[in-house]
Amino acid sequence: MFTKFGNFIYGISVNGVSKLGVVLITSSFIIFLIAQLAMLTEVLTNAYIGLIVYLLFPSLFVIGLILTPIGWYKYKKNTGKTTIELLNERFEPVDTKAGVSGAKVFRTFIVLTIINILFLGCASIRMLHFMDEPYFCGTACHSVMDPEWTTYQVSPHAKVKCVECHVGEGVGALVDSKLNGAWQMISVTLNLYERPIPTPVHQLRPARETCEKCHWPDKFYGTRLITMVNYKRDSLSTPKYTSLGLKIDTGKSGQRSGIHWHIAQKNEIRYASVEDKREKMLWVEVHQLDGNFKRYTNKDYQQKPDEIEKIRVLDCVDCHNRATHIYEDPQRAINKRISEGLLDFSLPYLNREALHAIIKIYPDKNTAQNGIANHLRGYYKRNYPEVITQNIAVIDTCISVLGDIYNRNIHPQMNISWGSYPSLIGHKGENGCFRCHNSKLVDENNNSISYDCVLCHSISAYESSEPFMFLTPADSTDRDFNMHRYLQEEFLNCYPR
Ligand code: HEC
Ligand code: HEC
Ligand code: HEC
Ligand code: HEC
Ligand code: HEC
Repeated sequence: MFTKFGNFIYGISVNGVSKLGVVLITSSFIIFLIAQLAMLTEVLTNAYIGLIVYLLFPSLFVIGLILTPIGWYKYKKNTGKTTIELLNERFEPVDTKAGVSGAKVFRTFIVLTIINILFLGCASIRMLHFMDEPYFCGTACHSVMDPEWTTYQVSPHAKVKCVECHVGEGVGALVDSKLNGAWQMISVTLNLYERPIPTPVHQLRPARETCEKCHWPDKFYGTRLITMVNYKRDSLSTPKYTSLGLKIDTGKSGQRSGIHWHIAQKNEIRYASVEDKREKMLWVEVHQLDGNFKRYTNKDYQQKPDEIEKIRVLDCVDCHNRATHIYEDPQRAINKRISEGLLDFSLPYLNREALHAIIKIYPDKNTAQNGIANHLRGYYKRNYPEVITQNIAVIDTCISVLGDIYNRNIHPQMNISWGSYPSLIGHKGENGCFRCHNSKLVDENNNSISYDCVLCHSISAYESSEPFMFLTPADSTDRDFNMHRYLQEEFLNCYPR
């Protein structure tokens, strides 16, 4: 046995190819084990090191495994002998029984192969596991994923793994995602990716395999009351309240009245949009389990664009496109920080000046931090010198809070600025719900999909000084009605449709 082993070692050490192979196998194996230990004990936590440990060393190991037999083959060819002869050659067999039998070589080969498979198997399981960690997805390609990672960590899904929304279930989905990931690594290395990353993300798995594992569609019920505070741009930054009762029901009760009606088990909405961008609808169809069918066609596209229509079945992300990578609107971001008491709006014109400071265009994050500080200090120095001397600490806090808003939402390295990734919840301009709920999409009787102001929400206060308008029973219907009519007119004036 030792003879054969000795001969084998001799055989693979006479040529460079298999020598390299052996060095690769042993060194990558040992380094991998040490690094693995360091990672399990959290001595090493960096995503780049992880990438090296899990990709580089196992790859080197495999290369080593391939090189060694190639080297042996070369040695065999040079000497013109068979493997059995070579293994028995250098030292004469001490006793002939110990001479190499094919069976023994085979046994050694099997044992080594099992060790190799075990090692590579464990390494790849650890690798897949590691690559599923949000920490890896979010930081391995730092400048590319930084925006998604930043917004993810402060989102309602901060504890949900990236892969639970991005990979879905099944072997097919896993293989798809790894192939996709391999391509992404190439495009990052060769700098081929677009900035910002374009949306909508067409490869996303259907929501049935992702979102619906945690959020069961038929479980949405009732009304969600939300109050938004909007601060005026006057000297007092006066708060104004808008309160909506969002009808988030799936409409299971049989009454068709709820926002999640679109994704109820019994309904399916299909649509096609210009260039498959999900913005301008060509047509929208309703298919129901009971066979009910309706089609709404866009009057603006009587003449069909010359493109092949891609049909999409509406799911969660057609509305919740910003489920976790939530970028704020600058005014809403400031509204939120004032409401949370982080920005002190007793400073004159705080809301207006804060907004001006953050919406300026800065070349990079450092310049932005200085620019914001200069803007705010400069404004108060020029206009309210007494304020700046008494409130220097308050102003500094505001500067730091505004700097944080900027860092969360603006990412110059990826060309992400205000509004790069608009949310489709709600209706800014023609966006969001009004992509379908408008007067242009009509059925054969010229009826449009409803855009009545109370279809999706009741409105209990609009830019009002109180969060709720308390109505007495006597005047409620009248005032309700008048208010809705007033709002409808105001909106229709802003967005003629
Ligand atoms: C709750 C589900 C969810 C989780 C968790 C999640 N994402 Fe996403 N992500 C989405 C959705 C939905 C979109 C699609 C947006 C669209 O199509 O407009 C998206 C889009 C993206 C995009 C494209 C750019 C963009 O902002 O639209 C990237 C890159 C991305 N995600 C990376 C990540 C990374 C990295 C993580 C983990 C750190 C992660 N995602 C976690 C749901 C999720
Ligand atoms: C692994 C489970 C999981 C998956 C997958 C998941 N979510 Fe969630 N989602 C949660 C949890 C947990 C919360 C937080 C609940 C809370 O804070 O009350 C949440 C909250 C939400 C909220 C409410 C946020 C708010 O402001 O109250 C929305 C909307 C949402 N998810 C949509 C989605 C969408 C869309 C997807 C698919 C792209 C998705 N979720 C995938 C677990 C999940
Ligand atoms: C892709 C097109 C599309 C988008 C986008 C869309 N809807 Fe709809 N919605 C429809 C269609 C189609 C109907 C059913 C029209 C009918 O009665 O035939 C509908 C019906 C509704 C209904 C009434 C449900 C019922 O019980 O009858 C509500 C409420 C609603 N949508 C809310 C919203 C909200 C809120 C948004 C935005 C967050 C939105 N929709 C975005 C297509 C869309
Ligand atoms: C037609 C648009 C639309 C679709 C499709 C849609 N949602 Fe929603 N969803 C909304 C709106 C609008 C709200 C209320 C937003 C708010 O509270 O600001 C909401 C609220 C929610 C909430 C918070 C509910 C609560 O109790 O407060 C969750 C969770 C959620 N959606 C998950 C989902 C999931 C998961 C899907 C897919 C199965 C989905 N939504 C499909 C428009 C939609
Ligand atoms: C198809 C459903 C739908 C229709 C129709 C609709 N809304 Fe809305 N509206 C929403 C949703 C969803 C939101 C967003 C709530 C959020 O941001 O979480 C919203 C938000 C609002 C807001 C608060 C916006 C803000 O940023 O302050 C106002 C005000 C409003 N709607 C008024 C109206 C009026 C007036 C009409 C009639 C012209 C109307 N809505 C029609 C679904 C609808």
